[in-house]
Amino acid sequence: MRAFTAPRPEAYAPVPPPLRRRGFDGPLPPGPGPGVPGVRLARFLADTPGFLLELHRRHGDAVTFELNRQLFLGLFAPAMVDGVLVRHTRSFVKGVGFERMRKVLGEGLLTNEEPIHLRHRRMLQAPFHRDRLDGYAATMAEATAGELDRWRPGDIVASGPRMMALTLDIVARTLFGTDASAHSARIATSMEVAIDRIERTMLPGLDRLDRLPLPWFQAFPRAADDLAEVAEELIAGRRAVPDAGVDPHADDLLGLLLALRDEDGSQLSDDEVRDEVLTLILSGHETTANVLTWALSYLAAHPDTRAALESEADAQAWLAEGRAPSVEEAMDTEVAGRVLLETMRLAPPVWVAPRRALEDVEVAGVEVPGGAHVLVSQYVTHRDPRWFPDPDRFDPDRWLRTPERELPRGAYVPFGGGNRRCLGEHFALLESRIILLAVAHRFRLAPSDARRPLPEAQPRATYRPRGPVPMRVQARR
Ligand code: HEM
Repeated sequence: MRAFTAPRPEAYAPVPPPLRRRGFDGPLPPGPGPGVPGVRLARFLADTPGFLLELHRRHGDAVTFELNRQLFLGLFAPAMVDGVLVRHTRSFVKGVGFERMRKVLGEGLLTNEEPIHLRHRRMLQAPFHRDRLDGYAATMAEATAGELDRWRPGDIVASGPRMMALTLDIVARTLFGTDASAHSARIATSMEVAIDRIERTMLPGLDRLDRLPLPWFQAFPRAADDLAEVAEELIAGRRAVPDAGVDPHADDLLGLLLALRDEDGSQLSDDEVRDEVLTLILSGHETTANVLTWALSYLAAHPDTRAALESEADAQAWLAEGRAPSVEEAMDTEVAGRVLLETMRLAPPVWVAPRRALEDVEVAGVEVPGGAHVLVSQYVTHRDPRWFPDPDRFDPDRWLRTPERELPRGAYVPFGGGNRRCLGEHFALLESRIILLAVAHRFRLAPSDARRPLPEAQPRATYRPRGPVPMRVQARR
């Protein structure tokens, strides 16, 4: 087994030690008092988004609290969100949870920091540019048709696991082309363990437990090892193909990653490609799967919206003709667009952006001390009635009344912002529209238990629905 550690590369900026509230004499935003030891921690762990929402309602846009004896600031007003993610991005690095994620994803884009981040980001941007998406749309449509061909009227499908399997299939095929199927079962099994263990990580200091000799903890390094091994085998297999234009995979994303060159002509090393491959698999499927599962449930609970989406799907030539859409065709679908905007408002898969302040910095009038943990939360800010009246209501038409561009910067940030903004945003939106419309074209889904139309949330590192979210399949044609 490899050493299961994630030392910070020396090139990264040093992170000041965590702060404690006691003994800190600078100005801090208001927040709850010390309280009964352990109670706040239990509440935080049981329902972190709910905990943050309550802090916002009680104490306002900027809040101070302490967890595990470390100082946290919650910053919730749009200007503060924009300040942390965009304007003062140099004063922050990614915070709680990312240490542990680095054990699996190494120096990949999600977990790396400057100066490594900038180099990788510059190189990886091209394969994710909107112009390149037409090639991926075919994979998305084909994988979706394959999944839906297995659904039968009267079936109960577990919409959560099915969406997870479909989006994993899409990202694996996009990355590895025809090689994907040979490895997909192994990738799926280990990814599930890795995601599960990473997801229980909002607590500072938890990574120390990974060394415990208990099977539950040991499964994490084993899964990380296995993923690294599959990625390395695939990379070595590609490197072994001679360069003379005979590589049948040159067009898939792995082929592109191996061929990428920086401005100075340098390439990514095999280890760097491995980290990026694992990063793209992890960040590229669970988030999208969650959005789709939530969207299917919201649609089932809102028949008017579902009917509008069905009409839109029925008007799509590519669905009627059973072919892949062009990016333009798939993106020119207004109802699907609004359903996704509203789903990601209420159930943002990335519901928190944890950061650590590298230095003292003023963010939209709040003095943030160097060393503090800072939490920006999509979940909280997207539920602020100042920007989203009647915020708990699923109402895709609100985006007709107030289009996204009319909101203040930082009010709606499902894909983050600034230099750490999601690399796969266009990929995810294209994929989600193709899947939602393809489902609406062929089937109507109803919750298997009509008394509970919407699943409960089980927020982890992503905002997941709890359980398999079973839904009954009805034929539409
Ligand atoms: C609806 C689906 C998705 C959502 C809501 C989402 C959201 C996000 C957010 C909020 C971040 C920034 C996190 C932070 O600042 O702490 C992020 C980063 C990232 N996402 Fe996504 N994502 C989605 C799908 C995807 C897909 C499909 C891919 C790749 C195929 C992807 C790849 C990445 C990568 C590589 C980063 C790190 C970028 C960087 O730091 O330079 N994401 N995503």
